[in-house]
Amino acid sequence: MTFRILGTGSALPGRVVTNDELSAFLDTSDEWIFSRTGIKERRVCADETLDDLAEAAASRALEAASVAAAQVDLVICATSTADHLMPAEACAVAQRLGIRCAAFDVSAACAGFVLALDVADGYIARGRAQHVLIVACEQMSRVLDWADRSTCVLFGDGAAAAVLGPCAEKNPLAMRFSTTPEVGTLEVAGMAGTSPFLVGTRPASVLRMDGRRVFRFGVAAICDEVEALASEAGVGIGDIDHFVFHQANERILAAAVKRLGIEDARVARTLRETGNISSACIPLALDRLARAGKLRPGDLIAMVGFGAGLDIGACLLRW
Ligand code: ACO
Repeated sequence: MTFRILGTGSALPGRVVTNDELSAFLDTSDEWIFSRTGIKERRVCADETLDDLAEAAASRALEAASVAAAQVDLVICATSTADHLMPAEACAVAQRLGIRCAAFDVSAACAGFVLALDVADGYIARGRAQHVLIVACEQMSRVLDWADRSTCVLFGDGAAAAVLGPCAEKNPLAMRFSTTPEVGTLEVAGMAGTSPFLVGTRPASVLRMDGRRVFRFGVAAICDEVEALASEAGVGIGDIDHFVFHQANERILAAAVKRLGIEDARVARTLRETGNISSACIPLALDRLARAGKLRPGDLIAMVGFGAGLDIGACLLRW
């Protein structure tokens, strides 16, 4: 394992949608949404495309890393809501940046960014790539059922990116990925299409989930993975400087903080202003920490992403 993050960037749509705005067309309220989830508002694509957000996040990450686009030899996008079913979103990013290199997507929902780190790690370790651009980007608003108050209030749109380069020391210190196969717990069905040979009907391509099941899974995932990361790396949980967890629900974060006995101030939070942006949550939180000057060289960062699959990706990384 041989990479470090050289720079990060992010981009959110301009349109802010508040809880009060949702309450105008749904039987819900700011009070219910905020107290049950910690979300006050989210950003939703209006005149931007996901390609626009992905390009902007990528450009900012390259600038922060002082890496020219031409130096990138692999682009990986983590997304489940791309502008194109094919080609990969990563091809669109490469085209926008004007570069020719390997470009493909990984699909692991909210664990997608950590999976992309894992894949990039293999490319760098095998000498197949020097600089890898990872872009996690989601337009969740296109797969939401905007009449379903139990799901559409939770999500938002956005993109965040990281540029990776090789490093001499062992880094990350630990990397884990697992799947508990439960497709129906959190699912967006594929598009039905217009095939004249199709028999019967197919479900609409909108997000459906068992919120309570995901809630319990999320708390357990964070706690188990932080313990496993620390144990695999031979460090104490108290030695970890920053915890960057998937942003699904403030109550999930609070329960994990309590169970792990970690300092609340060390847990990154973006949920209040962005809602859940699936794969983009973790790199967005990293970018915010980096740009606020809160990440010092040598800091240990534990990341845990979890969601549809049910997938879990976890990584203990030295900054
Ligand atoms: N406004 C008002 N009432 C609502 C709303 C809403 N937006 N949504 C649900 N309710 C109602 C329900 O209809 C229910 O009413 P009833 O008792 O009359 O049937 C009541 O509130 C309680 O519903 P619960 O589902 O029990 O509410 P809960 O406290 O469990 O909160 C929530 C639901 C927020 C979805 C929670 O379970 C959760 O956050 N789960 C995890 C979700 C998640 O993390 N998803 C994504 C992770 S993976 C990924 O990111 C792709």
